[in-house]
Amino acid sequence: MVVIAVTAEPANETRVAISPDTVKRLANAGCNVKIESGAGLRSRFADDLYEAQGAHIARTREEALSGADILLRVRRPSIEDVKALKPGAFVVGMLDPYADRADLDALAATGAALFAMEFMPRISRAQSMDVLSSQANLAGYKAVVNAAAMFEQAMPMMMTAAGTVPAARVFVMGVGVAGLQAIATARRLGAVVTATDVRPATKEQVLSLGAKFIAVEDEEFRQAETQAGYAKPMSAEYQKKQAELIASHIKTQDVVITTALIPGRAAPRLVTREMVESMKPGSVIVDLAAERGGNCELTKPGEVVEVNGVRIAGPINLAGEVPVNASNLYARNLYAFLELMIDKKERAIKVDWDDEIIKGTLVARDGKIVHPNLQQQGA
Ligand code: NAI
Repeated sequence: MVVIAVTAEPANETRVAISPDTVKRLANAGCNVKIESGAGLRSRFADDLYEAQGAHIARTREEALSGADILLRVRRPSIEDVKALKPGAFVVGMLDPYADRADLDALAATGAALFAMEFMPRISRAQSMDVLSSQANLAGYKAVVNAAAMFEQAMPMMMTAAGTVPAARVFVMGVGVAGLQAIATARRLGAVVTATDVRPATKEQVLSLGAKFIAVEDEEFRQAETQAGYAKPMSAEYQKKQAELIASHIKTQDVVITTALIPGRAAPRLVTREMVESMKPGSVIVDLAAERGGNCELTKPGEVVEVNGVRIAGPINLAGEVPVNASNLYARNLYAFLELMIDKKERAIKVDWDDEIIKGTLVARDGKIVHPNLQQQGA
């Protein structure tokens, strides 16, 4: 029987790696699911909800971990916790593989097989396992809802006997998963929405959501998408042209939502201090790239700063602000991934180490870092 452990996350993480729904699915697949007591509380999953679906509630963390074949996490676990699992056990979570290399090396040295869900290949077979998408979608939604709450004016146009309230102007920078949901949410609230990206494929998506597309559409733009569907870092020349275009557009905007990222790199700087100073007092910027250094020069991760009456929020875990949805979707992503490695008939772990999804997400095995993206760094 496959033994699965789930432990409580750090104090700043509201999400949890398992839901009552996925406990049921795993129990039906013949797994023994052990959950540290209270692990789901901040996602409103009380111990008894898990228990009702067939989980075993462990009174201590040690009890949850001991004898487990697989540890499910939202964040990277501690080395002590991984050592408490069965030797060679699997660890599955958002391991933040580019952060704290020394700690990652020490985790690898435990001999556990580490799977980083952030590295999930973007192929159609893996869509149900794509944690970046499930979480970014919620973050894009929450960014707009938070911005609307911070903005001291209405979002939709209202024609009343006492006069007309104009629609707010919302500008979304970076039209990946989060940006698309931000556009859709801002449109639902009645805002006039514009959006920009460096990948040409986004133009049609922006237009189909009823927003206007704004970008420097030169030859470099036409080549800006990698085979994996991500953006490339742009040349200094492109960045200059892009900055000029954004500078003239941003000063007329009420709300700016920035989501621009390039995998494995610091976030591109798109909004300068001068651009912020050109905006009207009362305008709001929500910078979803805050954790990776921010798209706005003035962003402070985890804080709201005010410059000339413009407030800039740098949330670091927006999906965690809708924890019930975020945990439910995240847990389903993990379940879909586990289905690849659990043989339901034999009730045992069975892994095809050559599978593109397994290879794509496997960070370390047998004491060594094995992922190609992480080979050049470290020892
Ligand atoms: P991301 O979080 O890496 O980046 C967000 C957005 O920022 C991207 O659209 C990117 O082009 C943009 N960006 C980067 N540099 C920029 C700059 N200098 N100026 C303006 N924008 C900039 O991307 P995300 O949200 O993870 O999605 C990337 C792509 O992958 C999308 O096309 C998405 O539809 C696709 N995708 C495919 C999946 C699948 O087939 N399984 C699953 C999820 C996403």
